[in-house]
Amino acid sequence: MQRRDFIRLIGGGVVLAAGPGGCAEAPDARAAWRNPGAAEYDPRMRALSWAILAPNPHNMQPWMADLSVADEVTLHVDPTRLLPVTDPFNRQIVIGCGAFLELLRMAAAAEGISAEITPFPDGEPQPVLDGRPVARVRFTPGGATADPLFAQVLSRRTSRVAFTDLAPRGDLLEGVAEAGQTPGVVPSFTVEPTLVARLRAIAKSGARIEAHTSAAQTESAERTFFGAHDVAAHRYGISLEGPTIEVAHAVCLLTQKTLAQPGSWAFKQSEAFMDPLADKAPAFMWLTTSGNSRAEQVAAGRAYVRLNLAAAAEGLAMHPWSQALQEYPTMASLYGEAHRAMAPEGGRVQMFVRVGYVESPVRPAPRRGLAYNLKRNPNA
Ligand SMILES: Cc1cc2nc3c(=O)[nH]c(=O)nc-3n(C[C@H](O)[C@H](O)[C@H](O)COP(=O)(O)O)c2cc1C
Repeated sequence: MQRRDFIRLIGGGVVLAAGPGGCAEAPDARAAWRNPGAAEYDPRMRALSWAILAPNPHNMQPWMADLSVADEVTLHVDPTRLLPVTDPFNRQIVIGCGAFLELLRMAAAAEGISAEITPFPDGEPQPVLDGRPVARVRFTPGGATADPLFAQVLSRRTSRVAFTDLAPRGDLLEGVAEAGQTPGVVPSFTVEPTLVARLRAIAKSGARIEAHTSAAQTESAERTFFGAHDVAAHRYGISLEGPTIEVAHAVCLLTQKTLAQPGSWAFKQSEAFMDPLADKAPAFMWLTTSGNSRAEQVAAGRAYVRLNLAAAAEGLAMHPWSQALQEYPTMASLYGEAHRAMAPEGGRVQMFVRVGYVESPVRPAPRRGLAYNLKRNPNA
């Protein structure tokens, strides 16, 4: 145990002390969720302040917006914020860009501005992204009406917790799937016990394979932060917070290194955490596209955030479970099984999520803030 963790008090008592910098002012990890865009003059900046609240893989927030052309946003991906092991072809990163673009469009529409999105205007990079933009968005005043789902942006969450036993009604899920309708993307769901059991098993196996694929587990561990101070200092990645986490982190039981080490306490805890989440999943939804073009991935992201918002409107919690859809060698056989289960007629499953109810809503995930998502003009 490191010396900083405990301070011995005069008189014999002991208190747990803050980690390094614990008493220093840390940025508010959730400031982006309060009055997005309220202080901005430029309508593009206002819309971008909402767009950065989009769901995105591992909360990497890889978006870079170039505002150098008047009335346009050109969206790039920050090449330092990818997931090369678990997302080798950047498919999930592009889905996160689709979600970002849909919120950008909705935020502009809420002001009556139409935001016309052209995905990959300079062509589709394959097999991995290159420097070409993901989208160009033209802002034109007028011609847009507010989307009712926009009202849910601040209450949308990724609920990485156990759901209650209550299964969502089929007609409710039907409505959520309908709200997720986006050209080129087919939303599906099931509450049917046999298929739910098969999908629970796929979800569990996906988590296990990923945990035992060293490079994949290390990639995730290196993007996980523990305790309020660490979370506020980074404001991206997966945030683990709460009294037990703080203590386990302070005594070095729970660190990025131990989380990546099979057999460690942290590794066993993370495995034990996932199984009940899958075992209690009362329903699943998924999104399928016929091919796997970049434009289809953008469309899947737009559809996913709509689904997540529509679920929030119905008081439903949602949690993506992407491992079985990932394209690295140790996942190949489960990838096949996931596609046989969810897309028996063919097509590419782009998102796979569990849906249900939570006892109490989870906190919003951190965001770094819009300043980190603006592409700087090197000549400025
Ligand atoms: C393409 C994609 C894949 C995702 N896969 C997972 C996943 O496998 N497991 C998980 O817990 N969350 C997953 N998420 C959710 C993100 O981790 C989440 O959006 C991010 O941490 C930000 O949190 P928020 O959605 O609450 O704002 C995924 C999101 C996207 C867009």
